Amino acid sequence: MTSPKVMLRSRTRSDLRSPSWGGRATHQTRRTSPGARQTGGIGLVGNLLPSPEEWAVRNQALAQTLAELVNSHAPTKTGRGLEVGCQWGVLLDCLAGYTTLRWWGVDPVIGRHRSRSGWELFNGFADDLPFGDSVFDCVVLANVYEHIDPDRRAASLREIRRVLVPGGILVGQLPNPHFPLESHSKLPFMGWLPPRWQDTYWKLSPARRGPGFHSVTIRDLRRRAERAGFERLLVRNFSYPPEAAPTSVRWLARVLERPMKVMPWAWQFVFSRSR
Ligand SMILES: C[S@@+](CC[C@H](N)C(=O)[O-])C[C@H]1O[C@@H](n2cnc3c(N)ncnc32)[C@H](O)[C@@H]1O
Repeated sequence: MTSPKVMLRSRTRSDLRSPSWGGRATHQTRRTSPGARQTGGIGLVGNLLPSPEEWAVRNQALAQTLAELVNSHAPTKTGRGLEVGCQWGVLLDCLAGYTTLRWWGVDPVIGRHRSRSGWELFNGFADDLPFGDSVFDCVVLANVYEHIDPDRRAASLREIRRVLVPGGILVGQLPNPHFPLESHSKLPFMGWLPPRWQDTYWKLSPARRGPGFHSVTIRDLRRRAERAGFERLLVRNFSYPPEAAPTSVRWLARVLERPMKVMPWAWQFVFSRSR
């Protein structure tokens, strides 16, 4: 893979010497990540955490649908793509398999790292990306916008725009916080509660909270993206196939397949950087 050094900002060039370069996520880091199983919580709700096989189905469905959007809308100027909020690159590896782009990733929880397939991943936040201007055809932001501090959303979108070529696209997914079973906590109606009540309610969740999430909808993203200099190309409802649901509730996921076309699990979107 070609090194991205030429497009890195100086801050990251010095990180090339960081001892964390090439490091792998430890078992401990993964166990303490948001969303990982925690002790306590309601037993019944514990059955709602996906198994590794169900998680693989989820990644496959997500990667395929996002890749379809990338392949239909991204310009072919640089041949490069970036995933913001990539964790350790699991989704990125899957997504890369469906596109012809060369990929990089950024996430605040990782050090300098390589995904299993060898893509280079960096430490960084969406509002301070360690790359030069106009170096990517495409940025993927999947299940990340709701984790960005509301005060940093506008700056994050401006920063993503900066690293895209004119006409480059921002593609991604935002979970619907108003879906009756909230996707991060696996608790009913969590996304409807005021933040201070969420703190208490989360104690019943089988999933670790970590920094948690902010209840935010596609309206907010659309409005801020347009202000940051993006044009909306597509917003669509999206729900995973029932096979991605834990076995205990798969029958319910099948029953709800139709209603979920109206009240989706998530939205997928494509915005284009205006010139
Ligand atoms: C739910 S994970 C999504 C991982 C992957 N994109 C996927 O969909 O499988 C959310 C990720 O966003 C990252 N994140 C949170 N705040 C961020 C920010 N301000 N900038 C970039 N990434 C952020 C978190 O560290 C976490 O790894």
